[in-house]
Amino acid sequence: MNRRDFIKTGAAAAGVLAAGEYLAACTVGQKRYKIAMTGDKAIIDLAAYPALQQVGGSGIFVVRDHPTLIVVHTDTGYVAFGANCTHKRCVVDWHDSEKHFICPCHKGRYDITGAVVSGPPPAALPPYLVAEEGGKLHVAKA
Ligand code: FES
Repeated sequence: MNRRDFIKTGAAAAGVLAAGEYLAACTVGQKRYKIAMTGDKAIIDLAAYPALQQVGGSGIFVVRDHPTLIVVHTDTGYVAFGANCTHKRCVVDWHDSEKHFICPCHKGRYDITGAVVSGPPPAALPPYLVAEEGGKLHVAKA
């Protein structure tokens, strides 16, 4: 699927995600927001998530019937990964000052590519495709 098709087919999900935002009541670490996906695609309206508008900002998105996502605004664009640690499935946080995803459970660390840096995780975080268009992020399985 090329970038244009990716964005076109995801446009239908835009309204659903804007309406589904919430702050999870019982979380550790970063705020988590509930969003929906259409098929394997999510659209995140950046206007609704100020942290993602700034380089270094990030967001964790709980997706019904899909893995939780973590999105980071880097100085070269956006990256997204499945947020569940590959060790015991805890949700990782982005620590911009250290440029690492850090798991709060056993301190597993991953770099901005999702690769394991240290700790017990046996594998990298799973990557997602991200494209920015018109102030929205289109996120889908890689
Ligand atoms: S669950 Fe993440 S390091 Fe153990």
